Amino acid sequence: MAHSPNSYIALVLVFLLIGTSSAQLSENFYSKKCPKVFKTVQSVVKTAVAKENRIGASLLRLHFHDCFVDGCDGSILLDDTSSFKGEKTAGPNNNSVRGYEVIDAIKSKVEAICPGVVSCADIVAITARDSVVILGGPFWKVKVGRRDSKTANFTAANTGVIPAPTSNLTTLISTFKAQGLSVKDMVALSGAHTIGRARCTSFRGHIYNDSNIDSTFAKIRQKNCPRTTGSGDNNLANLDLRTPTHFDNNYYKNLIIKRGLLHSDQVLFNGGTTDSLVKTYSQNGKVFDSDFVAAMIKMGDNKPLTGKQGEIRKNCRRLN
Ligand code: HEM
Ligand SMILES: *[C@@H]1O[C@H](CO)[C@@H](O)[C@H](O)[C@H]1NC(C)=O
Ligand SMILES: *[C@@H]1O[C@H](CO)[C@@H](O)[C@H](O)[C@H]1NC(C)=O
Ligand SMILES: *[C@@H]1O[C@H](CO)[C@@H](O)[C@H](O)[C@H]1NC(C)=O
Ligand SMILES: *[C@@H]1O[C@H](CO)[C@@H](O)[C@H](O)[C@H]1NC(C)=O
Repeated sequence: MAHSPNSYIALVLVFLLIGTSSAQLSENFYSKKCPKVFKTVQSVVKTAVAKENRIGASLLRLHFHDCFVDGCDGSILLDDTSSFKGEKTAGPNNNSVRGYEVIDAIKSKVEAICPGVVSCADIVAITARDSVVILGGPFWKVKVGRRDSKTANFTAANTGVIPAPTSNLTTLISTFKAQGLSVKDMVALSGAHTIGRARCTSFRGHIYNDSNIDSTFAKIRQKNCPRTTGSGDNNLANLDLRTPTHFDNNYYKNLIIKRGLLHSDQVLFNGGTTDSLVKTYSQNGKVFDSDFVAAMIKMGDNKPLTGKQGEIRKNCRRLN
């Protein structure tokens, strides 16, 4: 009886559950150890967004760039040291990723109420959600329990793990697939470009050289982004021409009328396999919201350090 196939299967299941349980993130990881963490993070994000609404976009992007390089482990927050070069000056991040000071401010508040408990990686994940909600987007429960990396990887951050704005659709699909994210996840997550801004250097090629762009829109964007490389490289433009500080589905409506700012935005609606999804999201904000939330949770689940791995940094910029 004890050796029946069913009891073997039951036993194997029990071992599988025990074996993976430490690797699971959960919504209530801090409910006993730091019950005020969510309120504390939210209040700082609220203040920061009230001061400068773009920071909400920057914090959302910070989580994405953290998660794509060796998982959501706070590695992007580390400053350079003598033993490793951090990710902050890697191509996709240098002079571009923002929000480090907000994370620092949150970290000191959280350390004051529960020292050594809450990871920087979790703080980044929570700020991404709070930013979306504050800017009018959907709410979701953030899973926590990530730990912080003890190293960063400049090379990984610098060499194609994070997709470039010049990417074609094939490359976008494959870079997301490499992170365990589907085509649908990729299209939904790209909707993050409903908020925030990009530098001229990120979209110059699209507004001068591409043909799949509305000419009126191209002219508007060319006004503040000179053709010649080296001039006006850091001039900023809103990713969403309509409602740049509101989290909505206008990003997809823009794509339908060829008003995507980045080359990598417009390839999502350019006669290819993702056209139908873009159409759906442009017509149905509720479907977009729920697919975006599902994809954010999936991205946040990407290779976290858990259990005894890594550490809980005291200062997000350096190892303990
Ligand atoms: C699909 C591939 C993606 C590409 C190629 C891409 C590329 C870019 C680029 C080039 C910028 C402008 C950076 C600059 O000029 O300084 C940008 C901004 C932004 N990205 Fe993405 N991105 C992608 C996906 C995502 C995802 C998945 C998210 C988050 C879920 C995201 C969130 C943002 C936000 C919010 C901004 C504005 C940031 C700010 O104003 O500080 N992006 N992205
Ligand atoms: C980052 O940007 C700074 C300032 O523009 C530049 O001097 C530096 O060379 C860049 N770093 C890397 C690693 O490219
Ligand atoms: C950093 O990333 C590169 C490229 O992905 C990889 O080859 C290398 O092993 C990584 N280094 C460390 C220390 O993890
Ligand atoms: C997409 O871009 C990659 C990398 O630049 C290139 O190798 C590939 O040929 C391109 N694919 C298509 C279909 O254009
Ligand atoms: C536009 O295309 C021309 C010709 O192929 C190229 O020399 C130039 O660098 C491109 N400009 C941008 C901004 O990509």
